[in-house]
Order: sequence, then C-alpha cells, then structure tokens
Amino acid sequence: MAMQAGLDAHIVIVGCGISGIGAALKLTQHGFKNVKILEASGRSGGRIKSTSFGNGIVEIGANWIHGPSKENPVFRLACEHKLLDDKSMSEENQAVDVGGHPPFVPVFYSSSGKRLGPEIVEPASQLFSSLLKNSQEFFGTEIEPYPSVGEYMKKEIMHHTAQWKDDAETKRLKMAILSTMLKLECSICGSHSMDLVGLGSFGSYQTLPGIDCTFPGGYESLIHAMMKGLPQGIVSYNTPVKCVHWNGSFRPTQPSEPTYPVVVECENGEIVPADHVIVTVSLGYLKQYCQTFLNPPLPLHKAHSIKRMGFGTNNKIFLEFEKPFWDPSCQVISLAWEDESSLYDATPDVKKLWVKKLFGFTVQHSDERLGHVLCGWIAGHESEYMEELSDAEVKESVTEVLRRFIGDSTITPKRVFRSKWHSDLYTKGSYSYLSVGCSISDIDNIGQPLPLPGSNSRPFQVLFAGEATHPSFYSTTHGALLSGWREADRLISYSTPSVPGTGNLNSKL
Ligand SMILES: Cc1cc2nc3c(=O)[nH]c(=O)nc-3n(C[C@H](O)[C@H](O)[C@H](O)COP(=O)(O)OP(=O)(O)OC[C@H]3O[C@@H](n4cnc5c(N)ncnc54)[C@H](O)[C@@H]3O)c2cc1C
Ligand SMILES: *[C@@H]1O[C@H](CO)[C@@H](O)[C@H](O)[C@H]1NC(C)=O
Repeated sequence: MAMQAGLDAHIVIVGCGISGIGAALKLTQHGFKNVKILEASGRSGGRIKSTSFGNGIVEIGANWIHGPSKENPVFRLACEHKLLDDKSMSEENQAVDVGGHPPFVPVFYSSSGKRLGPEIVEPASQLFSSLLKNSQEFFGTEIEPYPSVGEYMKKEIMHHTAQWKDDAETKRLKMAILSTMLKLECSICGSHSMDLVGLGSFGSYQTLPGIDCTFPGGYESLIHAMMKGLPQGIVSYNTPVKCVHWNGSFRPTQPSEPTYPVVVECENGEIVPADHVIVTVSLGYLKQYCQTFLNPPLPLHKAHSIKRMGFGTNNKIFLEFEKPFWDPSCQVISLAWEDESSLYDATPDVKKLWVKKLFGFTVQHSDERLGHVLCGWIAGHESEYMEELSDAEVKESVTEVLRRFIGDSTITPKRVFRSKWHSDLYTKGSYSYLSVGCSISDIDNIGQPLPLPGSNSRPFQVLFAGEATHPSFYSTTHGALLSGWREADRLISYSTPSVPGTGNLNSKL
C-alpha cells in the first residue's frame, strides 16, 4: 500500500488564526506541497481582529505584544515586517522588565464621584501587586495554601488590611480599590472570578521583557503580512469543519491513489482527505464539541483536560467622545465602587449589576487626528450577559456609570462598539487559563498528538496547536504562534528525517 511520503504528505490545518498561519508558513517554506487551511469564518486572523472606529483603528481581539523583545516571535515578525514604531523597537523599550503588567498609573474615581488621591490608591495597589507576585511563587513548590488565586488574595488582603490604621472611610475606599484590582485581574486571566484560577499553577505563565506595545496599523497588519508569504488559494474560507475522522484507511475516488488515514468532514458536506491534520480551534470550541469533533472520539485523558482547563470571556467596550474629559497624561480610568468593601470580583445579580464588573477604561487614543476613544474592559458572566444587550442598553449603562464616577452629567459618548467573544460561534470566549485543579500536564494532554504513543497506526494523524496548548505562554499571540510552529516542526522531523551521518548529527558533534 502506497502512501504519501515526505513533502508530498497531505496536510490540513483547521483554523486560520495566527497558530494555523504560522504552521502553514513553516510547512510550505520547508517544501511541503499539499498544505490546506480550512477556516470557518470569512477572514483570517481569528482572535487577532482590528477594525476602524472613530478616525482610527481599534482592536476587537488581541491588543498588545506582551513582552516585546528578541525572545518573542510575534515581536520579531512585527519588526521584520516593519509594523512597529521606533519607540517600540528601541533597545531601551525591550530591556525594561515589567513582569507582565504594563506600568500604567491608573486614575481612580469612586462611585460618589470623587477622584481618589495617591495616598489612598498607592498603598492599595502596592499591596495588590506584591500579593499577586507572591501568588505566582507557589508554582513548582508543591505548596498550595488555598486552591485559588482569589481565595489566597482575599485572605492575605484581610490579614494585611487588619493592620492598617486608617479611619473607616479611607479603609473602605482602599478595599474598593482592591476589589477593582481583582476585576482587572479577571480581565487579564479571562476568568469569571479569581476564585476559579488555580493558585499552584498560576506562576506557570511566563513573561518576557519589554514594555507592551501595539501595532500602529492594527494587529491585523501582522496577519496580512504573514498571509502574503503563503501560496495563493491555500485557505478555504467559510468552511467550518464538522468532524475529523481518523485512524482509518480512506480511499479517494481514484482507486489508483493511495489511502489516507484521515478525512476531514466539513459542515458543507465537503470531504478532505489528509495524512495529517493540525487542529487550531479555540479551547472554547473544543469544549463545546469535544464529543463530536473527532471520530473516534478524543481519548478520555485529553477530553478531561479540555474540560478542566479554564476558558472564559473578556470583552471590550469602545466609546468615542467629541472631546476628552480626562487629562492628556491619563492612561487608565479605574472605577471603585464604595459599597464593595467585601472584595468581590463577581456580582451576585448579573442581570441587574453587570456593569459593576467593568473595572475601568484604558485611553485608546486621544488626539485631534485619531479622535478620543476609551476602551472599557469587562470579564466573566457579566461580560457574557452584556453581549446579549442591545447597543443602546450598553451605551446607556456605561454612560450612567461614567457620569456618576466622574461627577459630570454632561458626559455623552458619540458612539459605542463592543466585542462579543462569547457569542462568536467559532471562538466561544476569549482565552484560556489554568483553573482550580489544573496543572500544566493538562496543557500537555491537550497538545498531545493522536494516535497516542505506542499505537501501531500511522503516527501524527491529528495534531493540536493554538494558544491553549502552550505551557507557559497560553492566552497570548506568541504562545499561539509558537504552538503552530511546534506542530509544523513535528511533521517536518517526521516526514523528512535527517540522513544519519549528515546534517543534524554533525551539528550536534
Ligand atoms: C479580547 C481579547 C484580547 C486579547 N488580548 C491579547 C493581547 O493583548 N496580547 C496577546 O498576546 N493576546 C491577546 N489575546 C489572545 C490572542 O488573541 C489569542 O491567544 C490568539 O490570537 C489565538 O490564536 P489561535 O490561532 O490559537 O486561535 P484563533 O485566533 O482563535 O484561531 C482559530 C481559528 O479557528 C477557526 N475555527 C474554529 N472552529 C473551526 C471549525 N470548526 N472549522 C474551521 N475553522 C474553525 C476560527 O474561526 C479561528 O479563525 C486576546 C484575545 C481576546 C479575545
Ligand atoms: C485504531 O485502529 C486500530 C487498528 O484497526 C485499532 O486497534 C485501534 O483500537 C484504533 N484506535 C482507536 C483510538 O480507535
């Protein structure tokens, strides 16, 4: 029985996000002749998605290059394609290590319309930062005093604040700030509550040096540049994959052709035979279709890890204003609800109180040319509920909050626009995190190719890439890109083994 060997192997990539594109580029550049991408939506980029709003561009999905320095492959690509400004590429910018949190100085407003001074904000944010840093230090220690980051943070905060000698009013405000910082952390993790984020594995997420930067022409400019490197016509858009049938021996219509171990069945009835399939769909999608996306179904340990691993929602609400009501130097406007002294990052009544989950706004841009645009951030079930509301309802609630906190009843946004990542049929949320009870072995399980080692069937029939399969850069664009490269490399070393005595061997000696 003949089969496609080496560079003739038929490879199908499911999903045209940065991981799928990265895998396709590596494979085609290596000389693979039969690479196809099947993409459910009508566009490339997946969770990298830019759009025009006001007079400028806003990011519906990924916003920053986290840790833009030499080790970050997204940064390297962006530099190669000249997509960043000089400041972002400067050596000074790359050398600063902020440990993953951009050095934004937030301006805090309280729900009674007061701007809070540094004597209140600084002690609270310093305490939060130091506790958050401590919570990353349990990774690899076997010690886990509480199951979740949220429980640990809350217990530690109560312990520390008990020693504060402030008056009741000051203390209440500081607690409100800490509550807001928990909500901010929910947005960063893409989790409903920090009580769902596992403490022992929290430190597995690694940061790279460099002050986070953005793409002046939109994050999607990177996708466009990458797509130019692919052969024409290798992507089939609007082609959702329904099921990957593997571990078979499928004979195409021409009896003279060799058999394939895999066929990909699309929603439109199209059948695509393959030797290897790289699945890059989001973890949210895999969770929903875990039982039916593969036939034979996923081995139990993989299915369990998909179930256990966290995947939540973080959304953005963009607001455009005629003129700014904030100072020119302001980067972040944060909201502190004075009734939240009990530190909660999830509201008990999502429908009525959803807007309380909004931790604040980043200043997107503020100048005459690009307009004055704020970006509100909201995570969790409150964020998912927000997706169901009408534009008018969202505009009304957010305007009301701004007027109340800033203490200015004339504040009126010209236009409002928000992301809806949870209702996106082919994403089902924003990004992954390690939930309570999870460890990086769950990430390894999710990324493990099929068939499992020890099987007599053809190896590497179904491979798994995507953001959620990277053990230390999950939830990021660089994690996604590296995972696509990893799976491409797996096929490259399988399909084009080095001849003993040359190449690889010599270079090792
Ligand atoms: C709001 C938000 C903010 C973010 N901010 C940042 C940030 O600032 N910095 C950062 O580094 N990262 C950020 N991220 C994360 C980053 O965007 C993702 O980690 C990364 O883009 C994921 O790439 P991927 O290729 O793994 O998946 P995706 O981009 O989701 O690509 C998967 C593709 O598969 C397709 N697909 C799904 N199901 C099927 C199917 N059945 N058949 C065919 N195709 C299918 C989808 O349509 C999609 O195009 C953010 C994400 C969100 C949502
Ligand atoms: C794959 O096929 C082989 C041979 O037919 C069989 O022994 C094995 O159980 C199958 N594996 C799965 C996961 O179905």
